[in-house]
Amino acid sequence: MTELEKLQASCFLEIGGCDNLKKLDALKNSIFGKGGKIVELMKELRNLNNEQKRKLGSEINLLKSGILGKLNSKFHELEMKELEQKLLSEFVDVALPPRPEHCGKIHPLTKVEEEVVDILSSYGFVFADGPDIEGEHLNFTALNMPNHHPARTMHDTFYVHRPADDNGRKLLRTHTSPVQIRAMLAHKPPLRVFSIGRVYRSDYDATHTPMFSQIEGLIVEKNVGFSHLKWILADFLKKFFEVKDLKMRFRPSFFPFTEPSAEVDINYKVEGGKIIFGEGEEWLEICGCGIVHPVVLGHGKVDAGRYQGLAFGFGLERLASLKYGIPDLRGYFEADERWIDTFGFSHAIR
Ligand code: DAH
Repeated sequence: MTELEKLQASCFLEIGGCDNLKKLDALKNSIFGKGGKIVELMKELRNLNNEQKRKLGSEINLLKSGILGKLNSKFHELEMKELEQKLLSEFVDVALPPRPEHCGKIHPLTKVEEEVVDILSSYGFVFADGPDIEGEHLNFTALNMPNHHPARTMHDTFYVHRPADDNGRKLLRTHTSPVQIRAMLAHKPPLRVFSIGRVYRSDYDATHTPMFSQIEGLIVEKNVGFSHLKWILADFLKKFFEVKDLKMRFRPSFFPFTEPSAEVDINYKVEGGKIIFGEGEEWLEICGCGIVHPVVLGHGKVDAGRYQGLAFGFGLERLASLKYGIPDLRGYFEADERWIDTFGFSHAIR
């Protein structure tokens, strides 16, 4: 066995016997580092003639790459072992039941959102989304509210200090209706989409918060009209409030993006401090809706001669408050544990 072969054999033996990364690192240093075995070997080259230098040099190179290969595969093996041990020691049994004292609750908005999604999906609606920071064009202009349109002032808009772009000045969207345009531009009709998301208006009292949530629905199909819109909303509200005989009133209204427009009221009475739907003579406004204005279809690149649009919009907190008797809108966003304890839902009954 030559000197080099001996050195290789002893290195291989030491590497093979290493059982942790720290030791292996130290070993690597003792072979390749300053004063290491390889450096010592290289020193011998000084005393040789050119021919011998070339021969020994290439032998050393071969030795180096052999040892490095062995080292690298050992590093890999030990790293894998360490990772395995780490994963085992950090194992968490996610199937364990929570301790009652640490059991969180489902926020009413999440609960109601899931209910709404279930019902709308059953009619074939699919989810569509848009950003919270929207441009003036999609939030207003494309929805038939050109500059200086009086309806713009009805939305107390938060403008954002960001450079304007093709979509106009930046603002926090005041409603989810811009998603209508985004959906039409992204997909060709027939279209049945809904969106749920946060919207923002500069307003704050017991029935208004600067941030709240809306649900938006849009159908763009051939041969659809107000009767389809009316059926869907009536069926939706009966299912949502779980009241078969819910009476409804479609009251003429105005929205710039729909023509004709309506607001839907549902009947109710208050008994023993509780609100009962489907009975009594009182009426409560619950949603806005209408036939999408041809100008809006045009902004969505939809041929208004061939397709009709149906749209509707709800306030999510309002739906939740009415169904689950939650009085003050502000509680939704105050992150008060007592509030979520009172109005939240346990995971079990979800
Ligand atoms: N975007 C309206 C609002 O925030 C709500 C609304 C009304 C949405 C009628 C619609 C609609 O899609 O058809 O007040």
